[in-house]
Amino acid sequence: MKTDFDKIDAKARELAERLGPVTYNSDGMFAPTGGGATGPFATAETHRRALESAHAKLAYLLESRDESKTVDPLSFLDLRDGGDDRRGLPGKPVMTGWLDYAARILAKPAFLRGLSQAGEKIRADFQAFVSIGIGGSYTDVEGVITALNPAGSPLPVYYLGQHLSTDGYARFFREMEALSGKAAVTVISKSGTTVEPAIAARLVLERLSSMGKLGAVFAVTDPARGALRETAREEGYNPPAYITPEIAEEFSVGEDIGGRFSCITPAGLFPYAAAGVAVDELLYGYHYGVTAGRETAANQAALRFAANEAGATDLVLAYNVSSLRGKILAFRQLWPESTGKDGKGLNVMEEFYTSDAHSNGQLIASGTRNIMEVFFFTGESPADFPIPRSAHDRDRLNAVAGGLTVHDVNNRFMGALLLDHRRSGVPVTAVRLPRVTAFHLGMLSGVEQLATAVFGLMSGVNPVNQPGVQGYKEIAQGLLGLKGTGAQDKAMGELRAFGL
Ligand code: PA5
Repeated sequence: MKTDFDKIDAKARELAERLGPVTYNSDGMFAPTGGGATGPFATAETHRRALESAHAKLAYLLESRDESKTVDPLSFLDLRDGGDDRRGLPGKPVMTGWLDYAARILAKPAFLRGLSQAGEKIRADFQAFVSIGIGGSYTDVEGVITALNPAGSPLPVYYLGQHLSTDGYARFFREMEALSGKAAVTVISKSGTTVEPAIAARLVLERLSSMGKLGAVFAVTDPARGALRETAREEGYNPPAYITPEIAEEFSVGEDIGGRFSCITPAGLFPYAAAGVAVDELLYGYHYGVTAGRETAANQAALRFAANEAGATDLVLAYNVSSLRGKILAFRQLWPESTGKDGKGLNVMEEFYTSDAHSNGQLIASGTRNIMEVFFFTGESPADFPIPRSAHDRDRLNAVAGGLTVHDVNNRFMGALLLDHRRSGVPVTAVRLPRVTAFHLGMLSGVEQLATAVFGLMSGVNPVNQPGVQGYKEIAQGLLGLKGTGAQDKAMGELRAFGL
């Protein structure tokens, strides 16, 4: 008899066959034959060694889901929460719940059905959806929703709490004044104590309520503890008209899943459902990425590691479809927050081509040879335009008119950048999504998250904690006086020394 897991696996494979998987071609991570290109390329030998290490780290990562191996408080210490750059804290959860979360939640059809019904009801009842969160509680939310709705989502979605920029708030409140109905608001914060979203929640709830525009309020947070969980209970957030008992049971960020890995939990799934995203397809794609995509992920980790050891300190993520920007920014968060520890890690930049070919394209082609580049191509674009013929043809583009579309030209231009950069000493990888669908975005997330975690372990750091982002949070809380007047006076004194 087939287990739930086998059925989910089979369905994911069937979708991959029907839609075509995301593919990675990394021939360009090696120097072009014929010589001439000098740069931090991998070689057959550095790749072989790195791949061996990547496989060992991948096996370690996958074993961390084996409960019989995690009872020892010291096992998988490199994958526990808290601690320092290298090690998590004994007793803290092993933060690899994302490895099998998609399969576990796909085995709960009542939850998925309930979630999509809640999304439908939210779209029927409200005129806007406000998603409040920062870091891993924000990047993929906007990334996936904008990528899948290039012409705007069926319910307008606003993102707040990811900054404290008052011009953004002013614009948001102006738009809310003009809203004909009410807005649903969701606060996403695993810890429930992050100050930026806490301020956003206060402001948004207070202002929308006084405008008479506040609809249902939701909160996605830690399953067991935290300030937001308490507030949600006391204030009646997550009304049962939307969050039915089938949803409520799973309506949290898993205890063993960190922010930047949480897009497949309700932290991402709930806003996706409100925006009409095919949540189950995304989960199948993610599951396929972390299972069938394991070898690809290990190879990507190995090649990027080999290039890094050869001097590629910067990883450029290049794309040419503007609605993919948010998704690329989620990867720009994933890699540095996971691997930038203990004096190591990659500096990740995003380049929107061909726009950026006319600015820092110069540096990538001819500057310091410390760059590797991953190009994200998409086969089809949801909207495309033929190139019109011209009577005078002074620009000589009639040669492509009628044959190539704007998206075809766009891909050829990015192909030109790939070839040129490789020739000038940049190791390159071409990633291809046949189309931008929920399945493909899910698969891409699965492969990149796995590759990031393996790369971090290969570098000797804990890829699933983030002690470095605590530093500024602590100081900021001191500056605000949330840690007593002594701490505030000290921090303010230090700041005044900068004339601030
Ligand atoms: O990846 C992470 O863990 C971080 O980026 C967090 O998501 C971010 O700091 C927000 O934390 P929280 O969800 O606790 O508000």
